[in-house]
Amino acid sequence: MSINYSERIPNNVDLATDRKLQRALEHWQPRFLDWWQEQGPNNFAANDVYLRTAVGVDSQGWASYGYVRMPDYRWGIFLADPVADRTIGFGDHYGEPVWQQVPGELRSAFRRIIVTQGDTEPASVEQQHLLGLTCPSLYDLRNLFQVNVEEGRHLWAMVYLLHGYFGRDGREEAEQLLARHSGDADNPRILRTFNEPISDWLSFFMFTYFTDRDGKFQLKSLAESGFDPLARTCRFMLTEEAHHMFVGETGVGRVIKRTLEVMKELDTENPEKIRAHGAIDLATIQRYLNFWFTSSLDLFGSEASSNAASSFASGIKGRPDETRYEDHVCRDATFDLQTPDGTQTVSLRNAMNEVMRESYIKDCEIGLKRWNMQIGRAGYETALSLPSNRFHRSIGSWAGLPVNPDGNLIGQEEYDQRIADWLPGESDRTFVHSLMQRVVEPGKMAGWIAPPDRGINKLPVDYEYVRLH
Ligand SMILES: [Fe+2]
Ligand SMILES: [Fe+2]
Repeated sequence: MSINYSERIPNNVDLATDRKLQRALEHWQPRFLDWWQEQGPNNFAANDVYLRTAVGVDSQGWASYGYVRMPDYRWGIFLADPVADRTIGFGDHYGEPVWQQVPGELRSAFRRIIVTQGDTEPASVEQQHLLGLTCPSLYDLRNLFQVNVEEGRHLWAMVYLLHGYFGRDGREEAEQLLARHSGDADNPRILRTFNEPISDWLSFFMFTYFTDRDGKFQLKSLAESGFDPLARTCRFMLTEEAHHMFVGETGVGRVIKRTLEVMKELDTENPEKIRAHGAIDLATIQRYLNFWFTSSLDLFGSEASSNAASSFASGIKGRPDETRYEDHVCRDATFDLQTPDGTQTVSLRNAMNEVMRESYIKDCEIGLKRWNMQIGRAGYETALSLPSNRFHRSIGSWAGLPVNPDGNLIGQEEYDQRIADWLPGESDRTFVHSLMQRVVEPGKMAGWIAPPDRGINKLPVDYEYVRLH
């Protein structure tokens, strides 16, 4: 189905044939734009940005590139094409036809999951609200804005489902998605990671590497859902998500590259000297990595969870890449969880959060390997690593326990003494913030980051990706 751009809300869901839904969404649209104006990228509403916009939903050539002012971006409703005769791929309804409407008994569970996913999308735009003011290059500024407009579109994706399938409750939830704000003391976003400030670009790159990757896994598991409109919505969102993780992986890689150059140039591994030269030492990069990785681990929920079990059993949420598993029902299978009290054997269905977290961790390791190859090639032995999934947790059986990055329980006193080695502290943040100076001459980069290997859409790195004048 092609996307209809002649309507006020671009869509490929035949919105014009459902007047009631169309009116409801057209009513929500100006509120979304108000929110974008207030909470979105500050202060670039009048600038032309070289952005990609979806023009079709097939895997090939869905994007068109061109200059757009962000408030004019065509946010809309795009679902991946339906799969003929699709059946539910997991749980108690395995093999039954997928649902085109939400089954009554699953209504509140589906609503909660869609609201939670939807809440993360505008939250990240809010977290990144001020980053444009300190961009390290026009290339990076453009990537930030690309991520922002697409997160805005992901909000549209979830709001469409709420309006289209959940009646009045759904409309109310859609209002709330614009009323909660990241970091707001009275009305914060739902999940903790999405209330953490992202006030420097190292955090932004870590966020897009680790937290957008959590998004990828959540979307993958919802792309398996028995509720077909949700599955199709998430399948298309995944195609957009890939770019966000690319921004993260190459962003961190470029920071490391610059650090290695400075280490070579000064012939030192001394963090203070590296810092004095305006680059970010590897130990600081590791601490930022530790923070965002562990915060993102919490997003998968508790290791043992009856909620996760019923989501799987009832066909709401499968495992990412469900087809890769042999047993799709998992009625009798068990899973060994490592808890502070020792090994605990639980039903596999109850351990689905942990199953997902494990595949997420494997996916995170791919970038780590690349970064470490970079360091190795430069002739250094330091390696970045993912801390243990027990370290610095706020959710699950390891929450709040004094565990070191190797995963061992230690004394609280030792933990408190060492935490500054493991997580970014005030002095790290102050230093990183001091580097955040705006660089906007086409092709120029801030001193703490190397240029990218190539530009966007085969354009040169020094292309004017954002017109500031
Ligand atoms: Fe998203
Ligand atoms: Fe994303």
